[in-house]
Amino acid sequence: MTKPVIALIGLMGAGKSTLGQALARHLGLPFVDLDARIVEQAGKAIPRIFAEDGEDAFRVLESACLEQCIASPQGCVLATGGGVIIRDNNRRQLGQCTVIWLDASPEVLARRVAGDGNRPVLQGDDALVRLRELDRQRRPWYQQCADFRLATDDCTIDEAVARMDDFLRQ
Ligand code: S3P
Repeated sequence: MTKPVIALIGLMGAGKSTLGQALARHLGLPFVDLDARIVEQAGKAIPRIFAEDGEDAFRVLESACLEQCIASPQGCVLATGGGVIIRDNNRRQLGQCTVIWLDASPEVLARRVAGDGNRPVLQGDDALVRLRELDRQRRPWYQQCADFRLATDDCTIDEAVARMDDFLRQ
């Protein structure tokens, strides 16, 4: 049975926000963006949190916001940040959700995030090299958390929503 929170996981550029909004509209559920919650609670943008407080402080906030979103009694479609699966406790929390992994190749992701200065974990490095490394590190965690994997490289928004809907109705 589908759990009330449908969480989308996957690397940066996988389509978590875009497809999350489309899925939420399709299902008539509220859409929640975890990064937006973090920004709201910190009162500053993600690159500033990383620069002024460090990545660990960002991860602590991310865990707290994830817990709040999951604890809310109302169901929703939750777009997480790409690194949410790093912490054990977050992976345990995600066990309370229906988890959909949006999987895309580093080549496609690098094209999608090109020139985006809002992603500090990609700054200063060649985006493709960094995304390949993150893909290698994080793939086992995405795999571990996912109830359903959707490859998004060649998928339109409508196709992706239809495939997620099919899975949710099983
Ligand atoms: C991060 C991904 C970002 C954001 C932060 C860290 C990561 O979210 O949470 O910059 O570690 O992969 P998106 O996946 O929505 O870009």
